[in-house]
Amino acid sequence: MALYRALILGALTLTTLRSPCGGEDIEADHVGIYGTNIYQSYGPSGQYTQEFDGDELFYVDLQKKETVWRLPEFSTFASFDPQFGITEIATAKYNLDILIKSSNYTAATNEVPGVTVFTKSPVTLAKPNTLICFVDNIFPPVINITWLVNGHSVTEGVSETSFLPKSDQCFFKISYLVFVPSDDDVYDCKVEHWGLEEPLLKHWEPETPAPLSELTETVVCALGLAVGLIGIVLGTILIIRGLRSGGASRHQGPL
Ligand SMILES: *[C@@H]1O[C@H](CO)[C@@H](O)[C@H](O)[C@H]1NC(C)=O
Ligand SMILES: *[C@@H]1O[C@H](CO)[C@@H](O)[C@H](O)[C@H]1NC(C)=O
Repeated sequence: MALYRALILGALTLTTLRSPCGGEDIEADHVGIYGTNIYQSYGPSGQYTQEFDGDELFYVDLQKKETVWRLPEFSTFASFDPQFGITEIATAKYNLDILIKSSNYTAATNEVPGVTVFTKSPVTLAKPNTLICFVDNIFPPVINITWLVNGHSVTEGVSETSFLPKSDQCFFKISYLVFVPSDDDVYDCKVEHWGLEEPLLKHWEPETPAPLSELTETVVCALGLAVGLIGIVLGTILIIRGLRSGGASRHQGPL
């Protein structure tokens, strides 16, 4: 039953990983993908996860043999037997071993991942926020996503999703870093993947408010000048009117 389900769930992809520099094969790793579930011979490691509407609901920690809900509140009204996930991954491994033997190590190329860094909310200095590192087009699903603050690696406040499947056999993964924006700190999301010649650093820092304030100064200056000019014109008109009516009344006075 599990085998049947696994076969229905998705196509199986086999790949032999080559050295990114194009040299001799350094590893021969294979990946089996069944919907959101993955088994790969590198490591080796597996992933059992379930999603709803593109959002990850939970994954099974295969080492600790427990179900981990993405939103802890869910565990209060839903449950999932981790043993089921463990069995599915064991089936995936079994199938993969058979396919590796029968496929003669079919070669496939590594994809180059795309990396985007942005914040969860608009940035206000000193107001807590979350940096989001969105890594797209991941294949094979073996990757390291880490964070650097001022060039130093940090682990506190960091969390990430599982590999989430896309329609084209590739995956995306999101890493989060809770932080407090400050003028003094710069951030990098560091991605290591066999599709990259070297680790990719995607830089992020709070936007310097300088160009904005220059613009504001110019606008304030122009407005001030305009108001001043209007004042001069109005003042002149009032003075002239005052002089005229004053002159008139003085004329009228003695009569
Ligand atoms: C796999 O390789 C073996 C020996 O190199 C060859 O005899 C066999 O035909 C190959 N099988 C496939 C499916 O290409
Ligand atoms: C991820 O990091 C580990 C530990 O530093 C390293 O052994 C491994 O090669 C890295 N993986 C990739 C895909 O670069």
